[in-house]
Amino acid sequence: MASDNGSGRMQLEDIMFAGRTPREYEQIFGFDLDEFQFSSVLDCPSGPCAFTAAARSRGIDATGADVLYRHTPEALEQQCRRDITEARRRFKQTADADRFVWAYYDDISEVIEHFEEATETFLPDYRQHHDTDRYVQAELPDLPFEDDQFDLVVSAHLLFVYAEQLSYEFHEQSLLEFARVASEEVRVSPITMLSEASNYPRLDDLRGTLDAAGHETRIEPSDLALLSDTPERLVITPA
Ligand SMILES: C[S@@+](CC[C@H](N)C(=O)[O-])C[C@H]1O[C@@H](n2cnc3c(N)ncnc32)[C@H](O)[C@@H]1O
Repeated sequence: MASDNGSGRMQLEDIMFAGRTPREYEQIFGFDLDEFQFSSVLDCPSGPCAFTAAARSRGIDATGADVLYRHTPEALEQQCRRDITEARRRFKQTADADRFVWAYYDDISEVIEHFEEATETFLPDYRQHHDTDRYVQAELPDLPFEDDQFDLVVSAHLLFVYAEQLSYEFHEQSLLEFARVASEEVRVSPITMLSEASNYPRLDDLRGTLDAAGHETRIEPSDLALLSDTPERLVITPA
């Protein structure tokens, strides 16, 4: 799993450095890259996800941000390979505990094949562009971006999913930070925890904080089932 010797603000060892394909992001976030209605988008954390590379190849002003982007392409390649191997082992335990919903994917092999496909798109793009503003090192809950810098912010498979590792305050500050740097919308999915088959228990409290800061929120269905058979996303319309 992702290792880190940085600021020590959080433990990364249980959080996988594994990423999704653009098709999975389309299902998770409910957009079609060929009809993308936003001109700039931040994916955070983007990990070895192929979204930024694919969006850029379609002319979308996409930025990926992740705490591990301080590392070289060679180091991240090793990290991806290690984490995919480890994911295969851990996912088997999780599947054995009947924790996964086999609706979008048929089995663990298919989930892993998507990780591998995403990695093969991410790595050459990161190798070529890691020292540009396409891939930005950032450690939530702080982001090194201007207010309203992006039309859309998307965030998958960190908040809510890793509820056991990340505090309520981390969730609260990260969501407020996403709302600060987004001018039109923030989409966060899934909202289900990895440890239990239920949504993040203090979602209403988080929505209350966002509401008090003037940000509107709603919950929408999402199309990619794995942790829940009724997958959903949190959508924030910033003040
Ligand atoms: C499971 S991956 C998700 C990647 C991508 N969003 C996806 O769904 O394919 C989780 C990512 O969160 C990153 N991460 C963990 N803690 C972070 C933090 N505090 N700030 C930014 N990124 C973080 C990890 O490095 C890892 O790449």
